[in-house]
Amino acid sequence: MELNPTLVEQVKKLQQKYAVMGQDLSSYLDGLLHADYLTYWDYIHLDTLLSLQNPKTQFPDEKIFIVYHQITELYFNLILWEIEQIANHESLTEKFFVERLDRIVRYFQLLENSFAVMVNGMEREQFLKFRMSLLPASGFQSAQYRLIELCSTDTINLVNSAEREALAEYSDIGQQIDKLYWRSGATELATGSKTLTLQQFEEKYIKLFRETGMKYRNKNLWKLYETHFKGSADAIARMREFDQLANVLWPLAHLKSAGHYLHRDPEDIKATGGTNWQKYLPPRFQKIIFFPELWSAEEKAEWGKAAILKH
Ligand code: HEM
Repeated sequence: MELNPTLVEQVKKLQQKYAVMGQDLSSYLDGLLHADYLTYWDYIHLDTLLSLQNPKTQFPDEKIFIVYHQITELYFNLILWEIEQIANHESLTEKFFVERLDRIVRYFQLLENSFAVMVNGMEREQFLKFRMSLLPASGFQSAQYRLIELCSTDTINLVNSAEREALAEYSDIGQQIDKLYWRSGATELATGSKTLTLQQFEEKYIKLFRETGMKYRNKNLWKLYETHFKGSADAIARMREFDQLANVLWPLAHLKSAGHYLHRDPEDIKATGGTNWQKYLPPRFQKIIFFPELWSAEEKAEWGKAAILKH
């Protein structure tokens, strides 16, 4: 059988490629001869993926709770992946910046739109029972959520609202990390002290958060916009959309689930990480805004209100 010229050309290129590393192509071709064809299930590690759901109780709806958290973490991971590519790009262009922001917006839209899986998709009676077996774990302890925040904006914008203005005068990132909104927000209703959920989270991740704050101080999304694309209408539109999704729409969809399952009875707070969530979760109290310079004074003052009315 004659070898077709394209194939001969490909083999020559392969030979050159392997020769550069001092390797003999024919040994590798032998390996190829014996190798199996790639399958879908091996490629995406399906068996491993489906072995990662281990409910703590017998309630069937707990599986939904686990899987939906995992789906969310995978999307968070994609968001971080896009941010990293923007931040580490060697010759960042406006086109790349805007296209990657588009992706981030799309991921967050999917998360917002699918939150009904939590709000309407589980039996409340089951939820209130299996949730007690998961204490003190909480989505509050999502490190990727915190990393998205730290890579998106200057740390001063993540400081709790009462101390933000005073701390703005100092540019010490360490001090700002000490006052991150979620570190002062997750306090026990009864005693005002740090919840166990918060203590454990800090113990495991605070070093990483400090390092990330430092690493991104000059290359978070806000800084990159300011340095390279200030005034770009395309960039501004995407950044405002992202800000609205991350800090109003997703938090509101999430808040709806807390409202649905936990109602207003303080006793129900036991079924969470112990935080006074009614005071902590609503976006209008936190006033976390990644890109405050892109919003008018009125929009900032009314942060979260328009979306609540629409809901
Ligand atoms: C029925 C579903 C859910 C309920 C009732 C719920 C409830 C709560 C509550 C009460 C808090 C306040 C902290 C605490 O006391 O634990 C919280 C925080 C949080 N939860 Fe959820 N949650 C639900 C689903 C999710 C899902 C699917 C995620 C996705 C990872 C998630 C991520 C978070 C995050 C990131 C925070 C911290 C928010 C912030 O600091 O502003 N939650 N959740």
